Amino acid sequence: MKAETLLATARAARLRAYAPYSRFLVGAALLTEEGAIITGANTENASHSMAVCAERVAMLTAVHAGYHCIKSIAVVADCSPPPTPCGACRQVLWELGGNLEVIMGNLNEEIKIRPLLDLLPQPFGAQKWAENPAGQELTHSEEMWRVPVPFHPVGYIANTFYQAESIPKNYKELLSQVVIDPEMEEGLYRLEEEEKISIITYLHQARSYVLKEKRSGRGNEVYGVFACRAPLRPNSIAQTTVELIDRKSNVLTVRGADLLNGTPVLDLKTVLPLQ
Ligand code: THU
Repeated sequence: MKAETLLATARAARLRAYAPYSRFLVGAALLTEEGAIITGANTENASHSMAVCAERVAMLTAVHAGYHCIKSIAVVADCSPPPTPCGACRQVLWELGGNLEVIMGNLNEEIKIRPLLDLLPQPFGAQKWAENPAGQELTHSEEMWRVPVPFHPVGYIANTFYQAESIPKNYKELLSQVVIDPEMEEGLYRLEEEEKISIITYLHQARSYVLKEKRSGRGNEVYGVFACRAPLRPNSIAQTTVELIDRKSNVLTVRGADLLNGTPVLDLKTVLPLQ
């Protein structure tokens, strides 16, 4: 993965900073050996010393999500030169990630890349948690299915539907684009042979759900959320079958998506005819 891609993710994560006191927004994105990206942003507190930096939010999230090997971390803030992790973060990154690559960027595309040991020479302690069997034990527990599963969008929907209420009634005839991350373009190889494809998305604007209620799409009768296609559901995941009109490198044109502009795409699949 290119440094720019990780930086772009850190830039997006920065927008989730909670920094009402310093107004200095910082975003971080970690890349794991498996290719997963975990993000963080600085999170402040009225009791100022309780602020947690973006890098630590990302690293602790990654450890908790079960990632053992971190390859790089990108950090972004609106300053020049780009931000360098504070001393406390360098210590935490070293303990949990070893000599990872630190990519530092800002909003003007200035980049500095250094191995962590350049920023933290002669570090204290190096006991990596992955080597600790206690850290691994839970992986085999039957209860692991309850731990939230991290997803990483592979692209987004582009159209002119900006709000759920304004999706036109004739959306089935209307075109949208599916823009896939250029780094994943190879994964689209031969997709154009399909007439219909299935798009799996995360309905990022959807919030609360109810398990059972009257469903307008089902004649206003009561159905369970797993017995209908309502957009308000526990994981806000949608599956939409669309007609594939065209593919130009990483951009697909599809017909029939009732998805909002900017909806993150989690996956694309072919559609099997019913047997
Ligand atoms: N901050 C980070 O998130 N990362 C750094 O590397 C340096 C500082 C945050 C902490 C605090 O919320 C704000 O920036 C101002 O210090």
